[in-house]
Amino acid sequence: MSRNTQSLWDRPIESTAVSLLEGLATTRAIRRYTDEPIPEAHLRDIMFSATRAPSGSNRQPFRFMVLTDGNRAAQAKEIIAKSAQNIWAEKERNDGYAQGSGADPDSPKSRMARTMRGYVDNFGAVPALILPCMIRYRAPDPMEGASVYPAVQNLLLAARALGYGGVITGFHRPVEQELKTLLSIPEEVFVSCTLTLGKPQGGHGPVRRRPLDEFVFTDTWGLSADWAIDPPGTRFTSAGPPKKTS
Ligand SMILES: Cc1cc2nc3c(=O)[nH]c(=O)nc-3n(C[C@H](O)[C@H](O)[C@H](O)COP(=O)(O)O)c2cc1C
Repeated sequence: MSRNTQSLWDRPIESTAVSLLEGLATTRAIRRYTDEPIPEAHLRDIMFSATRAPSGSNRQPFRFMVLTDGNRAAQAKEIIAKSAQNIWAEKERNDGYAQGSGADPDSPKSRMARTMRGYVDNFGAVPALILPCMIRYRAPDPMEGASVYPAVQNLLLAARALGYGGVITGFHRPVEQELKTLLSIPEEVFVSCTLTLGKPQGGHGPVRRRPLDEFVFTDTWGLSADWAIDPPGTRFTSAGPPKKTS
């Protein structure tokens, strides 16, 4: 078996090169992929890792529709591609991506808009489209996602460990019924998100988030824990919740 198709069971593999904590801090949303297909042995390893996730009572209500090539996969990708293009066109307009710093082609805003435009335009050609689903066994409740999204994050982390990248989206939502019909997904099954996966054209790297003390409180809401300090060299984003005022 070539190195490229080695699995978790044929150690050592590339995954040993990234520690768990490093992987956690460097798994970015990857929206640009090479044309390389993902070997089935790698898909197996990624999906195995996904299915190791916890769920309430270990009920494991998650299922994954993994779509790579073939007619039905192409149709599903195309259905979501159209939805993605519509959603992005509306967001680009409504959020004024061409205005302000968006006029400067080198601004982060313009770069983001270009990445998103490329992503939705090429969505039909993503190497793997995955629809994480959940079998509903009771009326929808706020906790139900907690039995499927840990598996989704496991999936992304395993992909990262094997040299792939991906991103979660909600682009399936306007076309969920069409997808369910195409893929014979039962009525009681909820498509939790859309996930695309492939070999990154760019690289992974440290994600940027808000400072730790804005998220971690102790005793009183808003009171940061003294130890909630980011490691030296952490870089931040201005996106996210509003800054603390006191
Ligand atoms: C629940 C959820 C929904 C998301 N929906 C979309 C989406 O519809 N389209 C998209 O391009 N990215 C989507 N993302 C990806 C986020 O935009 C991305 O993770 C975030 O901007 C942070 O980027 P980073 O991980 O590269 O730092 C979603 C992520 C999550 C967790």
